[in-house]
Amino acid sequence: MHHEETQDATHDLAVISRLRRERQAVILAHNYQPGEIQDLADFTGDSLELSRRAADCDAPVIVFCGVFFMAETAAILSPDKVVLLPELAAGCPMADMADGPALRAMKARHPQAKVVCYVNSSAEVKAESDICCTSANAVRVTASLPGEVIFVPDIHLGGWVSRQLNRELILWNGFCPTHARILPGYVQQAKQEHPHAVVYVHPESRADVIALADETLSTGGMLRAARTSTAREFIIATEIGLLHRLRLENPDKRFYPATPNASCPNMKKITLAKIAQALTTLTPRIEVPEPIRTRARLAITRMLDLP
Ligand code: 13P
Ligand code: SF4
Repeated sequence: MHHEETQDATHDLAVISRLRRERQAVILAHNYQPGEIQDLADFTGDSLELSRRAADCDAPVIVFCGVFFMAETAAILSPDKVVLLPELAAGCPMADMADGPALRAMKARHPQAKVVCYVNSSAEVKAESDICCTSANAVRVTASLPGEVIFVPDIHLGGWVSRQLNRELILWNGFCPTHARILPGYVQQAKQEHPHAVVYVHPESRADVIALADETLSTGGMLRAARTSTAREFIIATEIGLLHRLRLENPDKRFYPATPNASCPNMKKITLAKIAQALTTLTPRIEVPEPIRTRARLAITRMLDLP
């Protein structure tokens, strides 16, 4: 880092440290955030853990270091809080692959079907859904619904759930462009280079990559599994931001990315300077208009209330 950049970072950190206290703000970060942001957050976690935190926390201000749908989920659960997304352009291309009108059209073609929406979706899509899920609970959530199920928007997560439950699901055609960069050849090569390594794969990955997994897990699941595993080496097939915490928490174990190219450009749009700016101006604030918010909330609370 250049001298001026170091000075800027020190200044941003000082602003954040003062304002997070003054504003009584809680800083939440997803496991894919840049390392320095994970380090300053009050809580870092996977999508399920973050939505539980957002639902439970009583801070008046939440700074969400992640992508749009995550801040939107927090705003759906806590309409009275100021929910800030430090960079409004940090979207999720997979979430943008489904919208309300297209989902309504699919529902009209399958009038008996219930809808499970992956949390990586817009408030409008959640409002059209019966229940939400994350990668940590997608199998359990889908299993709770008998009969026909539409799974939106991730075709890979939905396909994995369908294989786990041995049940046909009506799948949407969405996918994560970052996980799509993880090809089976990369995992096979990493396995050749590290023959004793255990392979963890995120279920947003392609089916032929999931087929190479020892375990298919959410990011929070990977962190828990790595902590308790007796293995010393791991090949990690997910967004590379997760490596930061895996390495920090397990200094005696080795973690290899399936490919260093699996970096989500949207997750990396959040910077220290933008967090400092958001805390200063209390913008960009995420709010979800009624009645979409109340309908979307029902899908999320059904998931959170599932035993
Ligand atoms: P999880 O952290 O819930 O596994 O989510 C992965 C993801 O892609 C979030 O955008
Ligand atoms: Fe969306 Fe994929 Fe980025 Fe997650 S990693 S925010 S699913 S594009």
